[in-house]
Amino acid sequence: MQIGEIELTDLDIGTFIKEKIEEISATVGDGLAVNALSGGVDSAVVTMIAHKALGDRLKSYFIDSGLMREGEPQQIATWFADLGVPVEIIDAQEQFLDALKGKLDPEEKREAVTQTFYKDVFGKLVKDSGAKYLLQGTNYTDIEETVAGIKRQHNILEQLGINPEEQFGYKVLEPLLQLRKPAIREVGKAAGLPEAIYKRPPFPGPALAARVLGEITWEKLETLRKATKIVEDELSESGAFQYLAILHEDRVTGMRDGKRDFGLQIEVRCWESEDAKTALPTRLPYEKLERLADRITAEVKGVVSVTYNITKKPTSTIEAI
Ligand code: XMP
Repeated sequence: MQIGEIELTDLDIGTFIKEKIEEISATVGDGLAVNALSGGVDSAVVTMIAHKALGDRLKSYFIDSGLMREGEPQQIATWFADLGVPVEIIDAQEQFLDALKGKLDPEEKREAVTQTFYKDVFGKLVKDSGAKYLLQGTNYTDIEETVAGIKRQHNILEQLGINPEEQFGYKVLEPLLQLRKPAIREVGKAAGLPEAIYKRPPFPGPALAARVLGEITWEKLETLRKATKIVEDELSESGAFQYLAILHEDRVTGMRDGKRDFGLQIEVRCWESEDAKTALPTRLPYEKLERLADRITAEVKGVVSVTYNITKKPTSTIEAI
């Protein structure tokens, strides 16, 4: 890998932000750049830095792919409006669901999200706006895992031999490429983001598509959104690095109101990690696990079984696909 990591201990945050602002200003010049917020920390940090560099020559979008958490697009737009950064929500739900239809293989699902995002949705937004650059929050772990062939991270292009300018008609700027999560959070803090944003648990680019096994349908996404909300409510005070719900493809025999209910399974994962490279399952109190199982089976229609993942990364990974 040619790009070198800058570790948090070696990072002069003030200088880093200043240099990135200068680089973005010099590259974009008098033109426009567009920027995609995903709900994760990385894209939020890029937005703040690019906003400082470009002001209203930065057009920030939140792509509502239908794969997002409940209320996420509005939450992000409100947070950034309070910071003086306008964010436009683009409804692309149908495009993403069409592209994912019939796809079962994890890498094919990731590829469908990537193509829809960069080619169809951003290709058009960039073309319509006259911008030549797309800013995004790719980080060092993303590149490392993609290059190692573990997962094709949604936002990795050039390291896979994809030339975005040739294929999609715009250049991609990635100011956080040399940093991992702990350093990115510190940069976010120094750039003026509120704690609610820079301390957010990571959230993957392919969003809930990374957490539905098998074919992705609207109905499955709705089930997973409800389970995700409960997991996030219950575990937000856990101090864990990341916590999530996964919807399994197989059904299992359960029982409800004295009758057989061949129902859905949700897997809960909660991780201790520094940088997502390796991770350990959190030793959650048993009462918390019971509460998660009780709430998910009572509040999420069709779910009869809840499991907790006790595997380390590796062999597990953090997300499911
Ligand atoms: P895995 O599942 O590979 O995840 O152990 C490591 C970290 O990366 C996040 N993740 C992604 N982030 N694009 C992203 O921006 C992706 O395609 C992607 N896949 C996983 C995951 O949530 C975890 O924090």
